[in-house]
Amino acid sequence: MSFLNDHYLKLKAGYLFPEIGRRVKAFTDAHPDGAPRLIRCGIGDVTEPLPPAVIRAMHRAVDEMGVRETFRGYGPEQGYPWLRAAIAKHDYRDRGVEVADDEIFVSDGSKCDSGNILDIFGPQNKIAVSDPVYPVYVDTNVMAGHTGPANEEGAYGKLVYLPCTPRNGFIPEPPKRHVDLIYLCSPNNPTGAAATREQLTTWVNYAREHRAVILFDAAYEAYLTDPGLPHSIYEVPGARECAIEFRSFSKNGGFTGTRCAFTVVPKSLCAQTKTGEVQPLHPLWLRRMTTKFNGVSYIVQRGAEALYSDEGQAQVRGLIEHYLGNAKVLREGARKAKLKVYGGQDAPYIWVRTPKGITSWAAFDKILNEANVVITPGSGFGRKGEGYFRISAFNSRANAEEVARRLQELRW
Ligand code: MLT
Repeated sequence: MSFLNDHYLKLKAGYLFPEIGRRVKAFTDAHPDGAPRLIRCGIGDVTEPLPPAVIRAMHRAVDEMGVRETFRGYGPEQGYPWLRAAIAKHDYRDRGVEVADDEIFVSDGSKCDSGNILDIFGPQNKIAVSDPVYPVYVDTNVMAGHTGPANEEGAYGKLVYLPCTPRNGFIPEPPKRHVDLIYLCSPNNPTGAAATREQLTTWVNYAREHRAVILFDAAYEAYLTDPGLPHSIYEVPGARECAIEFRSFSKNGGFTGTRCAFTVVPKSLCAQTKTGEVQPLHPLWLRRMTTKFNGVSYIVQRGAEALYSDEGQAQVRGLIEHYLGNAKVLREGARKAKLKVYGGQDAPYIWVRTPKGITSWAAFDKILNEANVVITPGSGFGRKGEGYFRISAFNSRANAEEVARRLQELRW
């Protein structure tokens, strides 16, 4: 008989969102006539249609695919040169950050890339994650066999958890001990906190001192409103020697269902072999992409490119303003409901303390059954998420306003 990957059996319960899905299904099955009206503020999935500039570019690309002279088969696995160039110019060089076109790798998502990146790292690394944490960072390390089993609180052996609490503004501080790989997410999912330049500088200094690599997830950078906050880790001197950055078109261009993202691997970033030889990581990631991936479709990449046109940029700004407007409505609603609220200013997530010390899942069930709103229980993101819940601002304005109203009607 063949052998399965035993590490999968260490995974605790289901992935968070399927578990939420199960509870929501039980609720909707119990109300087959569709009443009361359920509003979903759980998974951070966009609700607004794709920008018109994207639609036009994708229609044009579809037409090209129907004509022999302009038809395309396999594209470059790492992305078409015109999209890589547009990204490197607009997201980096125009902002004074040095990133070369061929350091950009276009992919089908940051979630996929943040898991796939482990292919190019050895099993010996000591890995640090924040707590609470986007569950994908943890689960992909469990699957890869980089952790021990989980304890009764759901914490995996061998991982170093960095607590994020109101005391540190939900931004993790470097540990006193040595680690080799560090996951940072800013603006943060789930807490909605955003790291300052000083905080990122502290991390870059730590990583350089420990010859560690930072896996920097900036999928929500478009939500930064404070002009002083860094959009890229490469704004910090020295980060090109110690960081990989993940970016996505999901939450700015509305591509969650369309699928396009990119990862930046600087050519100056190195790690060591088992025998201590220092080697660049860029060729390894290129090899991984060309071997295991056939690229994002031409049509989708043309759509992503259109996000960088003047028209596309204005339409993206419109989308971000819409979701941040929702975040403001939800923050104020939760505040008026006498809840303690964090985040939601530079991020599309509002992080809320559960009242009276009730657990995150008890708050989830109460909000589902009494306010008919789906939120995400904080404990699903880690032990330090217990006692919190997350409200996603991805919704219509009318729904955000209705959720704000229903939260104020809840009696805890
Ligand atoms: C979330 O709700 O945390 C996000 O939708 C997750 C993701 O983008 O993969």
